[in-house]
Order: sequence, then C-alpha cells, then structure tokens
Amino acid sequence: MTARTVGVGLISVGWMGKVHSRAYQALPVVYPELGIKPRLIIAADTSQERADYAVDVLGFERSTLDYHEVLADPEVEVVSICAPNFLHAEIGIAAAKAGKAFWIEKPVGRGVVETMSVQAAAAEADVLTTIGFNYRNAPAIEHIKTLVADGSLGRVTNVHGRMFADYSSEPNGALSWRFIRGLAGSGVLGDLMGHLIDLMHYTVGPISDVNGMTKTVYTERPVLQMGQGTHFDVIEGGEMKAVENEDYAAMMVKFADSAQGAGAMGTLEASRVAVGPRASYAIEIYGTEGSVKWDFENMNEIQLAIGRKGVHLGYQRVMVAPGFGDFDHFQPGAGTGMSYDDLKVIEAKKFLEAFVGGQALNSNINDAVAAARVVSAAETSADSGAWVTLSAEAGTTAALRA
Ligand SMILES: NC(=O)c1ccc[n+]([C@@H]2O[C@H](COP(=O)([O-])OP(=O)(O)OC[C@H]3O[C@@H](n4cnc5c(N)ncnc54)[C@H](O)[C@@H]3O)[C@@H](O)[C@H]2O)c1
Repeated sequence: MTARTVGVGLISVGWMGKVHSRAYQALPVVYPELGIKPRLIIAADTSQERADYAVDVLGFERSTLDYHEVLADPEVEVVSICAPNFLHAEIGIAAAKAGKAFWIEKPVGRGVVETMSVQAAAAEADVLTTIGFNYRNAPAIEHIKTLVADGSLGRVTNVHGRMFADYSSEPNGALSWRFIRGLAGSGVLGDLMGHLIDLMHYTVGPISDVNGMTKTVYTERPVLQMGQGTHFDVIEGGEMKAVENEDYAAMMVKFADSAQGAGAMGTLEASRVAVGPRASYAIEIYGTEGSVKWDFENMNEIQLAIGRKGVHLGYQRVMVAPGFGDFDHFQPGAGTGMSYDDLKVIEAKKFLEAFVGGQALNSNINDAVAAARVVSAAETSADSGAWVTLSAEAGTTAALRA
C-alpha cells in the first residue's frame, strides 16, 4: 500500500506540543492499516529554545518563532494548535482562513464567544476540526458509551463526575498563564471541567440545565514567565500576583431529552488544588439496571455492576481488553495497560482518518462549543445562584455513535 503522506504543522511546543508530535509519530506504527504517514514539517514557538527543540528532538524539518509561517506553509495540510488558551481563537480563525484542518487543544478560547467565533470560521472555510478531548478516546470510556447506548445499565437515573488534580495544591505553585483570566479565561472550569462535560456529553448526552458554584482557594501565587516552565512548578520566594480565576467548581446538572440521558441528573466537580488525588478524573453512571465507574488514575479498568438479583450483587472489576475501543491496537491482551499518550495517538488517528476521507469519528468544534456553553452557564449560575437552561448544540459527535 502506498502511504498517504500528510504534512503537519505545529503551533506551540509546550507539553501538548510534544504530546501531539509523539502521537503523529506513533500513528503509522499503531495503525498501519490506514496507510497514513504524518510528515512533521514546521513548528512554531516564541521561545527559541522550544523552537529548536522541535527540530533537534521532535523531528520537525524546520521551525519558526512566528506561527503565521506555519499557516502560510504550502506543505502544511493540517495544524496542531497547542498554544495557551488566549491564542486559540486568533490562531483557530487564522488556520481556518488559511484552509488548514486543525486539531486544537481545549478549551477552544477563553469562553463561549471565542469558541463560537472559531466554530463560525471553521464552518465558513469548511475545514475539519478535532478537539483535545482525549479522555473520550479511552477504551474504557468507549465501552461505557456502548453500555449506556445498548441499555445494559437500563435507564440512566443519575451521574457523578469529578476532575480532581493536585497540580496547584502547593500554595507556592507557579502562577502560569492558566491563572490569569486574560490568558486562560476561566480556571479549573475550562481546564478540567470542560473534559468532564465532554465525557458526560459523549457517554450520556447533552446537558440541559446547570446550577454551579466556584471558589478560588489560593488568591496569590508566584509569577512564572511564559515558556519558562509549567503549572506543575513550585517557586519559593518569587514575586506574588493575584490568581484571577477559580481553583474549584461544582455543579448540579440535568440532561436533555436525548435517547440515553432523558430525565437523568447529577453532580460534577473539578479542582486543581486537591490534596490526595493526583489526577482523579472519574465518572460514575447509575441506571435502573446497573452502574459503572471509571477513574483515569486506573484508566485500564472499570467497576461494573449489572442486575438487581442474586447473591453476587455489587461491583466487579473489569479490565480493559481487546474489543474495548482501540485497545487491541496497543496491546494484545488485558492487564498490560495503555497510557495518557496513547489517548492522543487515538485522537491523532481519528483526526487524520477523517482528514483523508475515512470514518469521521473525531470530536469537532461543535463539541467544544457545547462544553463551553455549559462552562459559561456554570459561571453565570455561580454569580446569580440561579439555574441556567441551555438548548442542545447541533452537530456534536456526542450522540452519533453507540
Ligand atoms: N487535552 C489535555 O489533556 C491537555 C493537557 C494539558 C494542556 N492542554 C491544553 O493545551 C494548551 C497548551 O497547554 P500546555 O500545557 O502545553 O502549555 P505550555 O505552557 O506547556 O506550553 C505553551 C507554549 O506556547 C508557547 N507560546 C506562547 N505564545 C506563543 C505564540 N504567540 N506563538 C507560538 N507559541 C507560543 C510557549 O512558549 C509555550 O512553549 C492549553 O490550551 C491547555 O489547556 C490540554
């Protein structure tokens, strides 16, 4: 088979820039049957050190300090946008205008207005989009989606979800761009809650009503210069500046009258300052015939309870195995675990498979708008104390696949 080479451009060579690059490199090895061969053409970062790293270590053919050169490059067919949030709308719109398909990290912009501006530009230019909602690619999540869709859990009654991370639990944890409203938009709502909302949309269905509350636990942190480190860094004795967005958020939700989620309700929480959980990104779905739990900290297993009769009621531990999502592309048998990076390889595969005209299993900009609208509703509700009602976002992938 002749491989279809796809020219790749990368904008920003931070944590996600590296992860996207590794995903493109792994794709032909993990999915040889697709015949897709990404070619890493050009990467941009305003940090010279990171631009050099893209060539010297990640294997890009060239680099630049100006992302416009990536979008103008005729050899670039698809672009990974891994910049901080404040640049997402500007770059996403520019990518669409340049006619490039793009894989953009979440949250797409600093709120629903910016996310919708990217949606409009992508629709106008008719370019393919994919969002960094990687947790939906976990084989366990794909299996949970099937269990909900085929009625194994009965009628979904309620859900519980949490995204509890400790990356900023240290009071002297660095004030990266993530804590500044003008650079990030919301805090943990956009950073982690958006992933959780997407997981709920993907497995259960659209959220229709939101009642939220938020809290900033640490109001000042030591300053970190852009491109100098990560939000995991701890800085002793640095200059302190104000944290401008929330560390913790919670919301009660109701689901729209979709096939799976009709009448369901639940609670969702997110924290970036939890002590104990490291990256406990978990969903629980309860139905009239059973329930299922998953936690990213143990991403290769689910806890499953089916049925209301007999002496062996309760949860059984089910290890992810061939037949669950794309697991068999990574490991031949259960018990040998997949990792975070593998979820990005699946995301790259969904993106490029759709790009070359294959199955469109990728998330898209409408999913990002759907999540951003729920985040925005949570912020509005946190201010007013009242419930906020949403209409469903058309064109999301959430309800498309069993
Ligand atoms: N999907 C996920 O699980 C996940 C995980 C982490 C981060 N993210 C998202 O990925 C995005 C990037 O986060 P990160 O942790 O990689 O950030 P990071 O701070 O590690 O890297 C950001 C990079 O952007 C560069 N940059 C700044 N201005 C630029 C410009 N004008 N042009 C080009 N590059 C520029 C910086 O120099 C830095 O190298 C964010 O939107 C974040 O929310 C998603």
